[in-house]
Amino acid sequence: MTDATLTETRNDHSDDTAAWWRQAIVYQIYPRSFADANGDGLGDIPGIVSRADYLAELGIDAVWLSPFYPSALADGGYDVADYRDVDPRLGTLADFDEMVAALHERGIRVVVDIVPNHSSDLHEWFQEALAAGRGSAARERYIFREGAGPDGDEPPTDWTAAFGGSAWERVEDGQWYLHSFAPEQPDLNWDHPEVREDFLKTLRFWSDRGVDGFRIDVAHMLTKDLSEPLPSTVELDAMPHDGNHPLHDRDDVHEIYAEWRRVFNEYDPPRTAVAEAWVSTPERRARYASAEGLGQAFNFDLLVADFDAEQFRTVITDNLAQARITGSSTTWVLSNHDVTRHATRYGLAPLNGRTGVKQGVEWVRDGGPADQLDREGGLRRAHAATLLLLGLPGSTYLYQGEELGLQEVAEIAPEQRQDPSFFRGADFDGLGRDGCRVPLPWTASGASFGFGAGDAHLPQPEWFAEYAVDVEEADPSSTLALYREALRLRRLLQTEESLEWVETGRADVLRFARPNGWQIVTNFGSEPFDLGAEADDLVLGTLVDGAVPGDSTVWLAPQGLVA
Ligand code: GLC
Repeated sequence: MTDATLTETRNDHSDDTAAWWRQAIVYQIYPRSFADANGDGLGDIPGIVSRADYLAELGIDAVWLSPFYPSALADGGYDVADYRDVDPRLGTLADFDEMVAALHERGIRVVVDIVPNHSSDLHEWFQEALAAGRGSAARERYIFREGAGPDGDEPPTDWTAAFGGSAWERVEDGQWYLHSFAPEQPDLNWDHPEVREDFLKTLRFWSDRGVDGFRIDVAHMLTKDLSEPLPSTVELDAMPHDGNHPLHDRDDVHEIYAEWRRVFNEYDPPRTAVAEAWVSTPERRARYASAEGLGQAFNFDLLVADFDAEQFRTVITDNLAQARITGSSTTWVLSNHDVTRHATRYGLAPLNGRTGVKQGVEWVRDGGPADQLDREGGLRRAHAATLLLLGLPGSTYLYQGEELGLQEVAEIAPEQRQDPSFFRGADFDGLGRDGCRVPLPWTASGASFGFGAGDAHLPQPEWFAEYAVDVEEADPSSTLALYREALRLRRLLQTEESLEWVETGRADVLRFARPNGWQIVTNFGSEPFDLGAEADDLVLGTLVDGAVPGDSTVWLAPQGLVA
């Protein structure tokens, strides 16, 4: 790309303030599956650099990188062996610096994933703990206990791990350690001062390298009350999630984030953070989003909602109300690396009475019977939901491939699967997560659809060709063209963080107005919704005879706003 085109695609820096994140579009890169520069089948950091112009042309404000640290990939990189380095298969620290520079040059900020609840079992601390034996100081950094039963050969409790099986694993000398996820992911002991210190060091390490923000993995699980006797699962399940639950969403976790905030605020602009916190209510979530804490928290309500006007309206109203209370901005997410892609979710009829993410999981688990999926309808509804989201106040997180309208890949043979939840039989997400992690198709032909020179680490189906970037770039009616246009217009239309609902007289049509007159109309039903004379204000989407067709969204703006 020449310098001239680079200037054209450079983002507007007028938002270059400490508040850049409030209404940012953040694009999630799953590095192993984005672009593979060295042809080993795994995406890498130089691959991201090679696609920096693509990211700039998309019109995003920031990228969030899922883990790229040294890892045995027992959980796709969420098993971190060294928090302050790059996996040699994905590149070097010098490559990372080059990537930050290439993205910053294009006005794109960089957010990295921090995984503090657990390390990899290959982390030097865990290896030291194994070698040092029971009772050693090294074991104190993790959660080791003696087993139950006369010989201690039963796990200390009956707790199950999120990926299935016992949450305890026995080591050679007979002790057991806690792992809330896979056995290769031992939980760290957050009562230990060295653990706390070390993460402050990690946050500074990446901040000093120019990282703009952090996404905090399972932010609600770090602190635990493990005083004896430990409760059983039945007892745990009966305990309220009021901040005193022994394992989840404890009030004392916020002491950690207050300390982190002081580190973030050492930088100019302050580093940002967003919590992945699966908690019971928006009120509990708000604590993670406070200005004295991480500052922002993911709102996953739409991952579990149906494509349904009433559900969307409730989620939007509740979350905007929460944002007003915390002073943070709302976050919107329809897809990420942990759930069935939304174009697929919206193309499925309710399965066994289940809808939302669970329905997607069941479809994938059943081998994705093609006759249950309406690809076209799913994609149409995905467009409608995404355009609605992009019109909302707050920030939106996009997941790589959704800008191509990618569907979930169900046709992955068991021996090709990588997700630990598949091997450990968790109900949590069934077979779910490999299907949204299949490497992106960049070209309709060629090795691994242009992902890299070799075979991709997860198999790409033939139908990926239809969704390839080069195909969509050549087609003005493609999903990619729609995302680019929506993000371009959104930048022009951006306004204060509020909305007003506009009465539509229809339960299946939502309409809201932003302070500058920008309006978003989504028809969740099948009957067209007539706009009358306002049809002249159309700036995005398609009208048929002046009406919003079913399963679609349009944007309206007074003349001149986007001239
Ligand atoms: C988060 C991540 C998920 C990972 C888990 C354990 O939920 O999003 O991918 O498996 O944490 O680290």
